[in-house]
Amino acid sequence: MEKKNIDWANLGFGYHETDKRYVSYYKDGAWDEGALVTDASITINECAGVLQYAQTCFEGLKAYTTEDGRIVTFRPDLNGERMEDSCRRLEMPVFPKERFLDAVTKTVAANEAYVPPYGSGATLYIRPYLFGSSAVIGVKPAQEYQFRVFTTPVGPYFKGGVKPLTIKVSDLDRAAPNGTGHIKAGLNYAMSLHAIVTAHEEGFDENMYLDAGTRTYVEETGGANFLFVTKDNKVVTPKSDSILPSITRRSLMVVAKDYLGLEVEERPVAFEEVKDFAECGLCGTAAVISPVGKVVDHGKEIVFPSGMSEMGSVTKKLYDTLTGIQMGRIEAPEGWIHVIK
Ligand code: PLP
Ligand code: COI
Repeated sequence: MEKKNIDWANLGFGYHETDKRYVSYYKDGAWDEGALVTDASITINECAGVLQYAQTCFEGLKAYTTEDGRIVTFRPDLNGERMEDSCRRLEMPVFPKERFLDAVTKTVAANEAYVPPYGSGATLYIRPYLFGSSAVIGVKPAQEYQFRVFTTPVGPYFKGGVKPLTIKVSDLDRAAPNGTGHIKAGLNYAMSLHAIVTAHEEGFDENMYLDAGTRTYVEETGGANFLFVTKDNKVVTPKSDSILPSITRRSLMVVAKDYLGLEVEERPVAFEEVKDFAECGLCGTAAVISPVGKVVDHGKEIVFPSGMSEMGSVTKKLYDTLTGIQMGRIEAPEGWIHVIK
């Protein structure tokens, strides 16, 4: 298969149209069999549930070319399960996780020419999404839905690659207690747009959201979970019912414990504790692990001992091991790697 002529090494995190996408329609209480299509545009009614009441959720995962030339995805079953959870919370019909896996596999295989080569620094980002497509004017769930998957080749989420980030403590909240922070609903991201635009205008890379109930505990950023490393090398990650259960974070906790022999803790993390950590990172599919050098709370700076020029040593080991597993250089735990071809 001849690869597309793309400057893989200089790709940012953007949308680049690829050849095929998957679509399945839900009507009269059932999903149709689904198919790959070429048209990247969607035509829906002006009163569609997604347009009026934001009835939509999505997922994000990546396809990688391994060292030995296979194309693989990383724990896609967990994305499928998370999308099922998102659908239930938003009163949308569940797209079964087995079909999710099949759709992802078919879409990646159909866009093989866009899967970046091993060692290029880029990956194929996969975006499954599901939305209410029929008209609703009273506030209620739509009757018809579309499940779709598209792909786009991407480079690093944060410009500058692995240069430590500076983040601010946001005054705005991302998710309410008992709200939708734990699912991947589009509305959570709409909520975060004003905060991210403001953060960028002020020269910050991202926001740290605190818990909306008490504003004393660390939650997450707009698109990634936090990982902290204590001065005695323990890996700590916030536990909260209003953050997204990141697949990258769950995997990194296994990597820290089983591959690196480190102690790990998933527990509420008070903002007050942040100044005492040695390292901080953001983790997610898009972010991979992006090191944080500095957190700014209304002018008060917390600079981590790992500094502003490179990743902390534990963060680096986590990064190298995780990406080693994803790219087939390090043996993966059973079931983590799904081979497309
Ligand atoms: N938190 C938020 C709000 C996200 O959007 C994402 C991205 O998917 C994550 C965390 C990381 O989750 P994952 O590791 O499953 O990609
Ligand atoms: C992902 O990491 O897949 C996400 O959905 C996060 C988003 C900020 C791109």
